[in-house]
Amino acid sequence: NPPLNVLVLGGDGIGPEVTAQALRVLRHMQAKHDLAMRIEELPYGNATWRATGHLMPPETHAAVDRADAVLFGAVDSLDRTGMPAEERARGSLLSLRKRLGLFANLRPVRTERALDEVSPFKPRTLAGVDLCFVRELSGGVYYGQPRGIERDADGRRRGVNTHIYDEDQIIRAARFAFALARGRRGVLTSVDKANVMEAGALWRQVVTALHQDEFRDVRLDHMLADTCALMLNRDPKRFDVILTDNLFGDLLSDAAAGLAGSLGLLPSASLSAPRPDGRRRALYEPVHGSAPDIAGKGIANPLAAILSAAQLLRWSAGSEAAAAELERAVTAALEDGARTADIALPGEAVLGTAAMGDAVLARL
Ligand code: NAD
Ligand code: IPM
Ligand code: MN
Repeated sequence: NPPLNVLVLGGDGIGPEVTAQALRVLRHMQAKHDLAMRIEELPYGNATWRATGHLMPPETHAAVDRADAVLFGAVDSLDRTGMPAEERARGSLLSLRKRLGLFANLRPVRTERALDEVSPFKPRTLAGVDLCFVRELSGGVYYGQPRGIERDADGRRRGVNTHIYDEDQIIRAARFAFALARGRRGVLTSVDKANVMEAGALWRQVVTALHQDEFRDVRLDHMLADTCALMLNRDPKRFDVILTDNLFGDLLSDAAAGLAGSLGLLPSASLSAPRPDGRRRALYEPVHGSAPDIAGKGIANPLAAILSAAQLLRWSAGSEAAAAELERAVTAALEDGARTADIALPGEAVLGTAAMGDAVLARL
């Protein structure tokens, strides 16, 4: 196999701060496990736009086209006053996801015993939580047309978005989620609003038919999205793989961050369909955003970014051993009391972003 082309885009706010730590750890694992990777880091984000007039400069665009895997920090999509709509559209995270053909966004949520006291939930609710969202990433209201702010017949402005799913999009996400469940505990919960939305009713029909045709060995439950929000805090252990659409997946995965203890702990992997060479194109990013409230202070938790690098080792570098080793190092650092501010109890000593990176590296 030719070396894996890895493109690193730190982006905005805490994105570059946490990505720097993920990159240190990734380079360490590359050397330790002798992984064939070519890593390049290029400018991207609002600061790049202010300096160059491009949110994503031409050389970064070119690098995206040759990348097998992108290690991504965060974007601040609210801090773009004055940016031409065209630049915004060409450089956005949504267009990057589209360009890479990403359709399955995996968002694993596990609880760490060391963080029982940090989480707002009781230890008995948290024990044994190990679930993974498969958020459909290519469709739904994120991309549906028509969209825009327009005038109605009476001259009133209205905002328009369209929630639309075709059956091919549902099938490919569902097939991925069933296969993932098959390799885990064998339970898939498909989440929709079939009671209100036609796209949800179709979602349920298509998932049910696929289950009958190809995945009878997996247990399938259907759940309404509002009930899922409740069950994530009442009985999160019941979940193994949760399949849902783009918007519900965005909301429900942030809601599940309270189980882990902080949004600063949740990684993600976004995958395309396999290319002819069998490789999937992929993007790895924390579930959190640019966190403007703590950016530039060196205090952000880099573990979501570091665990996203573990996902890269698993899904793109094909090294389950390196991925699992890195995840164990994160658990060990937490068990030894390493804490950034977001996961510290009052009075506990806190590490900055780089020191947390050191704490993980020290255990590799
Ligand atoms: P956010 O996820 O950036 O922050 C939410 C809260 O969590 C904040 O209080 C923040 O300080 C905290 N937090 C997040 N990550 C943390 C970390 N690693 N360590 C410690 N604390 C952390 O969400 P927001 O503030 O609502 O949005 C800010 C910007 O980020 C918006 O422009 C939004 O569009 C963007 N965003 C981008 C992504 C992405 O790049 N994938 C994801 C979500 C939000
Ligand atoms: C996420 C983010 C993005 C999303 C935004 C920044 C476009 O919230 O990755 O969770 O909504 O998909
Ligand atoms: Mn989100």
